[in-house]
Amino acid sequence: MDHFLYRDGVLHAEDVPLPEIAAAVGTPVYVYSTATLARHYRLFAEALAPLPHLVCFAVKANSNVAVLRTLGDLGAGMDVVSGGEYLRAKAAGVPGSRIVYSGVGKTVAEMRLALGGGVRQVNVESEAELRQLSAVAAGMGLRAPIALRVNPDVDAGSHDKISTGRKTDKFGVPISRARAIYAEAATLPGIEVVGIDMHIGSQLTELAPFEAAYRKLADLAAVLRADGHRIARLDLGGGLGIPYAQTNEAPPLPSDYGAMVKRVLGHLDCEIEIEPGRLICGNAGVLVASVIYEKHGEDRDFLIVDAAMNDLVRPAMYGAHHDIVPVIEPAPGTARAPVDVVGPVCESGDTFARQRPLPPLGAGALVAFRSAGAYGAVMASEYNSRPLVPEVLVSGGDFAVVRARPSFDEMLARDTLPPWMSGEAG
Ligand code: LLP
Repeated sequence: MDHFLYRDGVLHAEDVPLPEIAAAVGTPVYVYSTATLARHYRLFAEALAPLPHLVCFAVKANSNVAVLRTLGDLGAGMDVVSGGEYLRAKAAGVPGSRIVYSGVGKTVAEMRLALGGGVRQVNVESEAELRQLSAVAAGMGLRAPIALRVNPDVDAGSHDKISTGRKTDKFGVPISRARAIYAEAATLPGIEVVGIDMHIGSQLTELAPFEAAYRKLADLAAVLRADGHRIARLDLGGGLGIPYAQTNEAPPLPSDYGAMVKRVLGHLDCEIEIEPGRLICGNAGVLVASVIYEKHGEDRDFLIVDAAMNDLVRPAMYGAHHDIVPVIEPAPGTARAPVDVVGPVCESGDTFARQRPLPPLGAGALVAFRSAGAYGAVMASEYNSRPLVPEVLVSGGDFAVVRARPSFDEMLARDTLPPWMSGEAG
């Protein structure tokens, strides 16, 4: 459920009509709903209770500081994968004690940043990284709290590019080697073992792969405890999928997921950490765009909108489906005709949807790409020198720009000429 509904024939974000935001900020623009973010966070928190738990929002899904602040104020922790994400979580007021640092290639500078600023736990992905982290922490007079990310060799059954728990994927250490690496970790001066970490992929639409992986995790926890390690936390990663098409998809609910976690891991007396991104913010955001032109081709009709692959890359990159809806609700019984919805970027890949049945939409009409709150703005670029897409947060009847669209002057000012090019262009 989300808070983007038609009222009197106009699509609203909570109590704000989307045309009002489009008129004030221009298009394309991302619009997020505070109420949806809060609802989805609470669904996870309730699903895991009464187990001791921390829901760490995966910052990579939406790193706007206002979004992070919304979740942080509700008590969420954060899962970060770069120095930049760590600083964003901090800027949102989230204390280091609620920040988990993940990622397959942390640099020494990033390790120093997180250890110096405070971190709940570092999820370590290789022996080389473990030794490096120990050296950095020991040099700072600290012991880094760690969980080792183990790769369970389970196929998440998701898109190939976002499945991460197979032995052919670059993530984690093979679960078969975990015992030996934990034994080494126990001897390192800058390391304190606190738990085990796992993340098998994103946009999972079945519970079975999670359950298979978590059973392996439970077995490993027992073995490691018998070896004398303190396994107080289990970080289960993120990955629960969302319905992208309003018609036929029904991925498991957070409550189903929570019940499975309790069944498989509840007896271990561990604190459970999860790292959901998409389920919390995906359906909490839409991308609003305007139609620039209709074009009648020889083979098909095109709807050219002012959003493009640089603003929302998921269709071009993963062949992902996003529902596209008119902001002004068509009259009942309006006929729909198939169109290709495309952006202005100079690649055929800049296609959001092929042969999508839509009502007639003339130049200037507003459309909303649904389920765009996760992996939308964060993956945006300025390709084709298009300004980075702005973001707006709605709360009840209020809205505010939480990332402004840069001006062309600001974009140009970031480039500088080398000294040997001074003088007039010729
Ligand atoms: N934890 C770790 C270690 C991750 O790598 C990820 C996502 C998550 C948590 C959050 O997963 P979620 O709950 O959002 O599924 N750009 C792609 C998705 C990439 C996911 C990468 N890792 C997309 O647009 O579908």
